[in-house]
Parts: sequence; C-alpha cells; structure tokens
Amino acid sequence: MSLLELQDVTASYGQGSVLHGISLSLAEHGATGILGANGAGKTTTLRAISGTVRTTGRILFDGRDISGLGPDRTARLGIAHVPEGRGTLPQLSVRENLLVGAYQRRDRKQIATDVDYCLDLFPQLQQRIASHAAALSGGEQQMLAVARAFMAKPRLMLLDEASLGLAPSTARHVYEAVRRLRRETGLSMLVVEQNAVLAFSVVEHVTVLETGRVTVEGRTDELMGMDSVRRAYLGG
Ligand SMILES: Nc1ncnc2c1ncn2[C@@H]1O[C@H](COP(=O)(O)OP(=O)(O)OP(=O)(O)O)[C@@H](O)[C@H]1O
Ligand SMILES: [Mg+2]
Repeated sequence: MSLLELQDVTASYGQGSVLHGISLSLAEHGATGILGANGAGKTTTLRAISGTVRTTGRILFDGRDISGLGPDRTARLGIAHVPEGRGTLPQLSVRENLLVGAYQRRDRKQIATDVDYCLDLFPQLQQRIASHAAALSGGEQQMLAVARAFMAKPRLMLLDEASLGLAPSTARHVYEAVRRLRRETGLSMLVVEQNAVLAFSVVEHVTVLETGRVTVEGRTDELMGMDSVRRAYLGG
C-alpha cells in the first residue's frame, strides 16, 4: 500500500481551481520530486496534503482519507511541511526552534538524541545554537526549517523549494543533508523544486505539473532521458 495517494485532487483559493485533478502516489520510504514552472501548482499540491487549502478528490495517508483535516491534525498524523519561505520562529533560538518541532513528543531522551542528530547533520546550527532564528543566514534558516520538521519525527516530509534564494553551494549543501537524512532514516519525502538537478539528487520518482495538471511522471532515470524534460528543467 502507498503511504500517500492523491486521487483526482482539485484545489482552490476562492473561485476557480488551481489544481485540476492531480493524482500521484508515494511509497513508504519513497521520495518523489514535483517539478513545474512558476504557478504550476507545486506549493498548492503540498498545501492540499497538509490541509491548508480547500480540496476535492481523495487524499489518502496510510490508507486514511485526510482531506479537510487541517494542518494541526495532519501534523499529528506525521506529515511535516517545510513551507516555501522556510517557516522558522524568528524570535526563538535555534535550540528552541528544534524543541518546538518536537512539541507533540514525550520521549525526552529520544528528543535529545534527535537534536544531536540534527546538529550533526547541520554543524553550522551547532555554532548558532543560542542565536535567534532571525539572526541566521538564509541557508542556516533553511537548514533549521528542515531540522525542525525532522524533530516532529514525521512519516512524511513535504519540502517546498529548499534551494530558493540560496547560493548554489549552500543549496547543494542543504540537499546533501536532505539526501543523508533520507538514507539514514528512510523518511518519505515529496520534494518541490525548480532546481531539477537538486531534486533529482534526492528522489527516485518525479511528477511534472503544468497549470495544475500532471503532464509527465516516471522514474528519475526515465525523466532524465527525456528531451523535453532535459530542455525544460536540466538546461539542455
Ligand atoms: N493564496 C492564494 N490565493 C489565490 N491564488 C493563489 C494563492 N496561492 C497561489 N495562488 C495561485 O495558484 C496557482 C498555483 O500557485 P502555486 O503557489 O501552487 O504555484 P507553484 O508551482 O508553487 O509556483 P512557484 O514556483 O512560483 O512557487 C497560481 O496561479 C497562483 O497565482
Ligand atoms: Mg511554490
């Protein structure tokens, strides 16, 4: 059974849908990339899953229809959304942000172990552990956003444009950590990216959206072999 399955999902922010019947499925421990131009509906797809936009169709998580549950309940079920623009708590320290990420957990020892794991994954955060999130660089904030989501011990991480606004070397660094996180924890992921090279480094499956519809999907190696995909997303 899939961990996540979208069946004919539409979404709207008011009048008029911006997703027009999206279907996709993600295996437990799998990772799928969602590519597409600006406005294609990538962020909206993640919002549909975490429950912050109105939808129709079915969104099954672990076999249960979660559509309409809202962000608090989807978070409690194990879906961690790292939003576009990062979403750290600016007035809290790095350590506090990590602990807030774990607020639904009671396993104190394991929480401490997971904080240590995050700091091993992102050593820069260790050096800034007492700093306010607001004082971090863009790259450090993105690292903190990923680490904070991990602290919830999710079953599924939704990662939205983690490379946005970062220097190429910083973006690569963030994705190297995400890849390591996958390898070492088996965490399932949906990875939204405009930078297909980075997305392809983490995922084994890719869905391409155009104006709210799935136009291409398949294994990463299959898509890398397609001229249209290479031209649009891999620079030729
Ligand atoms: N809060 C909102 N209210 C109204 N329309 C919105 C809202 N957010 C997004 N839209 C519209 O929904 C469509 C899909 O937007 P979405 O943010 O999902 O695209 P995206 O693929 O994530 O784009 P980008 O690459 O620019 O982040 C766009 O036409 C956008 O203008
Ligand atoms: Mg977006």
